[in-house]
Amino acid sequence: MEDRRIKPAEFSTRAEIEQAARYISAQTQHQPTVGLILGSGLDSLADEIASAQVIPFRQVPHWPVSTVAGHRGELVLGTLSGRTVMTMRGRAHYYEGYSMAQITLPIRVMRALGVETLIVTNAAGGVNESFRAGDVMLITDHINLVGMAGLNPLRGPNDDTLGPRFPDMSQAYDVALSDLARAVAAAEGIRLREGVYIFLAGPSYETPADVRFIRMIGADAVGMSTVPEVTVARHGGMRVLGFSLISNSLAHAHAEVSHAEVLAAGHAAVPKLIALIKGVLTRL
Ligand code: HPA
Repeated sequence: MEDRRIKPAEFSTRAEIEQAARYISAQTQHQPTVGLILGSGLDSLADEIASAQVIPFRQVPHWPVSTVAGHRGELVLGTLSGRTVMTMRGRAHYYEGYSMAQITLPIRVMRALGVETLIVTNAAGGVNESFRAGDVMLITDHINLVGMAGLNPLRGPNDDTLGPRFPDMSQAYDVALSDLARAVAAAEGIRLREGVYIFLAGPSYETPADVRFIRMIGADAVGMSTVPEVTVARHGGMRVLGFSLISNSLAHAHAEVSHAEVLAAGHAAVPKLIALIKGVLTRL
């Protein structure tokens, strides 16, 4: 098996996107309209999918394979609350050594397969001092700190058939979908936090000074994913809904973080996320 990480291709080509999409459609009868990305510790949500067909990431041409513990690395296609979904159990991250184009290729492939709505989830550190481990945060906006520094997934030649050169990001997270999520949370008695997610490259966690800095510039939660995917989804005209599971609080100056703790908090919050996502899909 080729190592897909050693020489990361900086830009994806249309041919690569189409090859991956063709491979997936040849494996399944499902025609997904909703994409779902399950972050660290959250992948058991895919157990809820009916008539599930599973395709390991490894088998799909050009698809980035996650190397991180707690990321299973497979696609699950099937139905959830009456919608046909294409679910990623795990994802690849920039810090693993992939290029921005590689980690966002799955979004291009989803779009090519007919997905119009993307629901993203992640585990994140709570920067907002009122957040507690186990909270679920509706992502209302994000800060693309890595993108601002030059690593935007849209850098490079623009394929106008995929999206515009300068896509609008004034409403990256869909207002109507967010309202649906609020309504579901109220109906289910789930306390839903809201806030701004900031993307840092990782993989080291933040220093106390990093945390002070990102709090000062307006972040409520911090993580190492999601923003490149959402940027590409918006470029492709998809509607996006996002949830962060707050796996640990960064409210105290010397709060230590461990990956094991992040995974454990994810497992514990899965029932809340399942209720939220199923509720939204039912009402779509
Ligand atoms: N920092 C960055 N990423 C994270 C964290 C954190 O504290 N927790 C889970 N993902």
